[in-house]
Amino acid sequence: KKVLFVASECVPFIKTGGLADVVGSLPRYFNKEEFDVRVIIPKYLCMDQKWKDMMQYRTHFYMDMNWRSQYVGVLEMEYNGIKYYFIDNEFYFSGPKPYGNIFQDIEKFAFFSKAALSALPLIDFRPDIVHCHDWQTGLIPVYLKDKFHDGEFFRDMKSVITIHNLKFQGVWDVKTVMDITGLPKYYFSPDKLEAYGDANYLKGGIVYADAVTTVSETYAEEIKMPFYGEGLDGLMRARANCLRGIVNGIDYDEYNPATDKYIVQNYDARTFRKEKIKNKRALQEELGLERDDKKFMIGIVSRLTDQKGFDLINYIMDEMCQQDVQFVILGTGEERYENAFRHFAWKYSGKVSANIYYSEALSHKIYASCDAFLMPSLFEPCGLSQLMSLRYGTVPIVRETGGLKDTVQPYNEFEGTGTGFSFKNYNAHEMFNSVKYAKDVYYNRKREWNKIIDRAMGADYSWNSSAKKYEEMYRWL
Ligand code: ADP
Ligand code: GLC
Repeated sequence: KKVLFVASECVPFIKTGGLADVVGSLPRYFNKEEFDVRVIIPKYLCMDQKWKDMMQYRTHFYMDMNWRSQYVGVLEMEYNGIKYYFIDNEFYFSGPKPYGNIFQDIEKFAFFSKAALSALPLIDFRPDIVHCHDWQTGLIPVYLKDKFHDGEFFRDMKSVITIHNLKFQGVWDVKTVMDITGLPKYYFSPDKLEAYGDANYLKGGIVYADAVTTVSETYAEEIKMPFYGEGLDGLMRARANCLRGIVNGIDYDEYNPATDKYIVQNYDARTFRKEKIKNKRALQEELGLERDDKKFMIGIVSRLTDQKGFDLINYIMDEMCQQDVQFVILGTGEERYENAFRHFAWKYSGKVSANIYYSEALSHKIYASCDAFLMPSLFEPCGLSQLMSLRYGTVPIVRETGGLKDTVQPYNEFEGTGTGFSFKNYNAHEMFNSVKYAKDVYYNRKREWNKIIDRAMGADYSWNSSAKKYEEMYRWL
């Protein structure tokens, strides 16, 4: 079977979040005998020159978009055993980042979706299944039912859409979207693309895809309810029979403490008791934190947004800093959170390190060096950071929502089980209690703490079992 992943980002070429990690790693884990999985993404000007140099020209054509005729270049590359295609157009893809303001993006991804489908007959790849990701590719299932339906080539082609984050839906007014997409009025009613009077790309994808998935079982349930449904909970209930939660994995080669090139000292499940500490020492030194082997070090690597629970952290940070702890933060996002952490780093110098930028290297060092990892999300479709922490024996402290609930087993001191600490309600003091509980086990029951690490490092969140679930779904389709 042939499968085409269509997405707006993909590691190692371009990344703004976990979506890129998933699109960049999952295709490698399918059974090659049975599935030929390829990936198509835009060619952004802001990609590293190294990648652009490796792309090879395949073909080009012109396509009508709104009132313009647009150039569509198709480039290709074989990398790590996977075939990648890139859609080239400098009018749309030359911004400093993959995403700009929503109005630009609405037209940009209509173009990309249409171009990706139009390119297929020319590159001689006829997928049985087109696997779309998030709102940026939501129009593809719609196009497959409409514009591309007549020709022999596209007949019976199936589509899947995976929701990585229901909060972002790609919403704009109906009139403009009709002009941009060339779709007739027929599609813009509340049982199709329209939601609350506007056109909604993700809704179109969910309505027209042959199957819908999201990235954890708990999130698949949560989004059928108003609190997590982002206005589409009714639609999620209506599509319940075609909706499935499949938990994400992470790339176990890329995130491997035994071979990681970014960290000072490699270690594994047998040697962490002696070796992991060397990473902590090096990080304290590098970031100017108080040097103390024993100090309970808490890491955060995240987009600094409301989704990730930063108003809880912000609210209770002063109290947390009265405790015997250190904080290392790496992230960018909303200005108020960026500034809040800069402030805390100044106020608690030596105790709090705020790194307000993006760094692959520092993220690996944090996963390897800290004792605990804090992720108190308001909602979390899956979350990859907590999986990386588990893999590195850094104990996650999370709120019980979405993928966090599915991947972190709460510590139970009576049964001697669990891989992390968790709390239920979105409440700063509940979070604080979990942090204090973890800290207490760390300082006073070190053997117990190390057993938690044993179990965390023993948990398997590679792609092996989840890739099989996708395979099953493809066969069913
Ligand atoms: P989301 O996709 O919602 O942002 P995930 O947990 O799924 O959350 O994925 C986040 C990914 O982005 C992880 O690989 C994490 O390490 C990475 N990341 C987030 N912020 C930064 C940063 N400032 N520097 C480096 N990596 C980051
Ligand atoms: C989104 C979600 C995150 C998930 C990622 C990859 O960015 O916010 O929870 O892990 O997609 O599926």
